[in-house]
Amino acid sequence: MVENQVDVKEMITKKVCVVGGTGFVASLLVKLLLEKGYVVNTTVRDPDDEKKISHLLTLQDLGKLNIFRANLTDEGSFDAAVQDCDVVFLVATPVNFASQDPENDMIKPAVQGVTNVLQACAKAKSVKRVVMTSSAAAATINSLPGTGIVVTENDWTDVDFLYSEKPPTWGYPVSKTLAEKAAWKFAQENNLELITVIPTLMTGASLTPDVPSSISLAASLMTGNEFLIGALKGMQMLSGSISITHVEDVCRAHIFLAENDSASGRYLCCAVNTSVPELSSFLSKRYPQYTVPTEFGEFPSKAKVIISSEKLVNEGFEFKYGIEAIYDQTVEYLRINNILKN
Ligand SMILES: NC(=O)c1ccc[n+]([C@@H]2O[C@H](COP(=O)([O-])OP(=O)(O)OC[C@H]3O[C@@H](n4cnc5c(N)ncnc54)[C@H](OP(=O)(O)O)[C@@H]3O)[C@@H](O)[C@H]2O)c1
Repeated sequence: MVENQVDVKEMITKKVCVVGGTGFVASLLVKLLLEKGYVVNTTVRDPDDEKKISHLLTLQDLGKLNIFRANLTDEGSFDAAVQDCDVVFLVATPVNFASQDPENDMIKPAVQGVTNVLQACAKAKSVKRVVMTSSAAAATINSLPGTGIVVTENDWTDVDFLYSEKPPTWGYPVSKTLAEKAAWKFAQENNLELITVIPTLMTGASLTPDVPSSISLAASLMTGNEFLIGALKGMQMLSGSISITHVEDVCRAHIFLAENDSASGRYLCCAVNTSVPELSSFLSKRYPQYTVPTEFGEFPSKAKVIISSEKLVNEGFEFKYGIEAIYDQTVEYLRINNILKN
């Protein structure tokens, strides 16, 4: 009798799929979904890699989490994982900032991955909505000058500019822009309901066995990692701002948009817009125990763009974390991981 009751409960519980469960964002999304009572399928490239999936195995204590093998570049790879799912979260993307061949290492597999996942969703008649993780790198980059320019969901990164100038890390924003555009084209042609979440640089805490590179980048002014401080400055020069959001808020936005019937289209998701000099000034005052640089010479003190989350907020979403809480949690996480000492 008790067994029958459990079966009935499972039949009415919504099943969702998170593509790329090992990642920084996806593993927290899996956790939040399990805590909300969803049955979760997740895909990983190598379920035999015990270290890479260790945090997912721990999450299996929270609820029903099924792990599938799938690769973005393998056609048909996602069919089993999305079967019977109501919602599919397409979070995974090939990330390789050091690549000498971004076209083959990031751009082609990102677009191919979108097609493979969405084809599986279209085949599985159960899928009512796909929520895809895009990036602010797909919206803010262009060659226009200025300061305080408001970026909305109507804005797209200028891929021609990136292909002609090839600034450092150009392959990533091209891959994210073309992947999101491919998703919109597929969704339109195949009558699939798609929502894209367009987050900024994320930080906070992570479930992953290794510290994610985005947390290291966001904390570089405190850790003093010169290479990453250079990358942070490069980010402001290329993307137009240092825009930051707590990873938990980004995951909450994914679930909010999956559950909210009236949601449609693209959604920027950004808690804080700032610049390297402004962020340094904030960090040096709040965490005086770290040697945060505060002299930036000619480097622009004001951000070129302001990423607006107005559409998401008007839909009813509330951000939980502002700049203080975002960095308090980042510092705490890095102290636990012995990256920051005091
Ligand atoms: N982190 C940020 O600050 C940030 C900001 C804006 C947008 N985003 C977007 O958020 C999403 C998640 O980012 P993240 O920071 O969580 O990245 P991450 O930790 O590097 O995770 C990337 C995930 O993609 C998977 N993946 C890579 N290539 C794959 C392939 N060929 N087939 C299947 N899976 C593959 C990885 O699997 P393996 O474990 O097998 O490598 C990993 O699970 C991405 O779409 C990213 O563009 C992130």
